[in-house]
Amino acid sequence: MTRLCVLWCVLATLLAAPLYAQTPPAGVTDAHPGLPPGPGRNIVIRTCSECHPIEIVTQQHLAADAWQKLVNLMADHGAVATKSELEQITAYLAEAFPPLPGDAGASPQGSCAGCDLRTRAVTP
Ligand code: HEC
Repeated sequence: MTRLCVLWCVLATLLAAPLYAQTPPAGVTDAHPGLPPGPGRNIVIRTCSECHPIEIVTQQHLAADAWQKLVNLMADHGAVATKSELEQITAYLAEAFPPLPGDAGASPQGSCAGCDLRTRAVTP
């Protein structure tokens, strides 16, 4: 009887262990594989997926100052984060999603005039 419990208890603990794991190891796929590991990642997921899918964010490739403007704009829209969290969000996004080659300085306000804001496809 005792022997049996030892076996089952150990097995149960092993099986349950992943459920209690606090954070997935860096780079491991969680619900948001599109976001590379880095400081500020969790704040971005928490803050920026509240009103729209996080993909709205991860499809952007912006220069640091454009990210800054965008994050401030979202704060104006009602994104809930402290000043220091907003700074971490900006730093993370600028690092993780810089402008694509040939798209330097892209800004949601500037470069997207006359194009669809969501897809960035230029509407004829
Ligand atoms: C309180 C709601 C809310 C939160 C929280 C929020 N947003 Fe938004 N977001 C909006 C709304 C509303 C729009 C669409 C209107 C617009 O573009 O101004 C939008 C649009 C966007 C767009 C598309 C703009 C474009 O030019 O294509 C991006 C990118 C974006 N948000 C990023 C973020 C980021 C980064 C965060 C986290 C700091 C965030 N959002 C948090 C409300 C929010």
